Amino acid sequence: MPNNTYIGAIDQGTTTTRFLVFNDKGRLITSHQLDYEQIYPKPGWIEHDPYELLDTAIRCADEGCRKLGMMGRTLSHIKAIGITNQRETTIVWDRNTGEPLYNAIVWGDQRTSRMVEKLRRKQEKQGLDVQAISGLPIHNYFSAVKLRWMIKHVAKVKEAVKNKRAMFGTVDSWLIWNLTGGIQGGIHVTDVTNASRTLFMNLETCQWDERLLEFFGIPDHVLPKIVSSSDIYGEVKWGPLEGVAIAGCLGDQQAAFVGQQCFQKGEAKNTYGTGAFMVLNVGEKPVKSHNGLLSTVGYRFGDKPAMYALEGSIAVAGAAVNWMKNNLGVISSSDEINELARQVDDTGGVVFVPAFSGLFAPYWRNDSRGTLVGMTQYTNKCHIARATLESVCFSTQAIFTAMKEDSGVPLKVLKTDGGMSNSDILMQIQADILGIPVERPKMRETTALGVCFAAGCAVGIWKGVDDLIHLKYSAMDLDVFDPQSTEEERLYRLSLWDAALERSYNWTH
Ligand code: G3P
Repeated sequence: MPNNTYIGAIDQGTTTTRFLVFNDKGRLITSHQLDYEQIYPKPGWIEHDPYELLDTAIRCADEGCRKLGMMGRTLSHIKAIGITNQRETTIVWDRNTGEPLYNAIVWGDQRTSRMVEKLRRKQEKQGLDVQAISGLPIHNYFSAVKLRWMIKHVAKVKEAVKNKRAMFGTVDSWLIWNLTGGIQGGIHVTDVTNASRTLFMNLETCQWDERLLEFFGIPDHVLPKIVSSSDIYGEVKWGPLEGVAIAGCLGDQQAAFVGQQCFQKGEAKNTYGTGAFMVLNVGEKPVKSHNGLLSTVGYRFGDKPAMYALEGSIAVAGAAVNWMKNNLGVISSSDEINELARQVDDTGGVVFVPAFSGLFAPYWRNDSRGTLVGMTQYTNKCHIARATLESVCFSTQAIFTAMKEDSGVPLKVLKTDGGMSNSDILMQIQADILGIPVERPKMRETTALGVCFAAGCAVGIWKGVDDLIHLKYSAMDLDVFDPQSTEEERLYRLSLWDAALERSYNWTH
């Protein structure tokens, strides 16, 4: 008997938009994916067209539903959908017309670096500890400075804020507002995990914090309401999913965290996508990092207490592979990097620090830039390909160490997912550099699965997290990569990485 209970996920990521459908056993039924334009108006600036984000989501859902139809299923089999999204990316639109007032400023955008310096000085002068309240340092990664930049530099945004017509949101808010109402306006909400990435939210109370809003100069009328990650927010009012409840919302890294079932304190996952993001469950109380990690919300289901996490965010992972493909033309497809890397046993002393957006966790260096060191006449593109893969593994190792120090709990195994984790060679290098086993699920759509879990719990398909723990789904079939390096080799390679990092600093152009 085919199973008739389905849950859909819109996964709006940094480079692709997707729609995926799972059944109530957590099995992937169908999916559709579209790329969209990356807009680079100036060095260090990255933008997306908000309409394209919405349009690709609708078109993916349309195609996903068509594929379901071909399997003899109808929309009525989809009991709910969840939204998961690239986090921090900031959009402002007009409350009356629905028109975006500027392109979305993407999380990796660096235009606010100077503003960040000024804000850090202001913080010091005022004696306000923004990180103690929000869990985040003042940095161009987060939404607050992007919104402040728009209010200062985009006349339309400034005007709309003054006239109380401006609505701010991360991508989740933008999609939900449009799907639940369109131009007439739907509901203006954001889930607690996305809100925890703005720099406006008090991590203890999970509400907007007046001190932070005042500090960043943001009026509260632009803000969405903060909601739980698993709840019925409303229903889709138009398009291919008309009538379906939107019942789950999670930032994409938190969604993968839920999809990988990191429900117990001490469990962590690392997602290798455009960037790489390692998230560790620290329980029902936030933990302050002393080692360059972010404190954030892992998830909150219904009225249950929020579960907190420590996160290590790496700005450039798969983006370095794309750069080799699109900017250098060294490879013609992303997979080719693995073929090249496999042809050599090591990098021949080459180290690559792909600090295109400065360095995020645990270093937080805005003055770091892409650096390739250690080349000789012997170096060829295979060594550079391997050094590119290694860079992601070294950055992960630094976060792994910081997590161990902050939480006092050494991780015994690393759960992985994300597009780049398809690479066996990357997974093996990672295990060698960490010195612990790396586990990769066979079903790697954990981000979409995570938000389907959230939506499914809200509509009663599962009773809650305890129910999910007992669920046997295909993501539980794993590939395991055991470390094959000696401690001595590991330490030597790490020392080369540290030396290369030093050389990447103080690059201010
Ligand atoms: O914080 C940014 C992160 O959410 C982006 O994830 O997978 O879209 O690159 P991804």
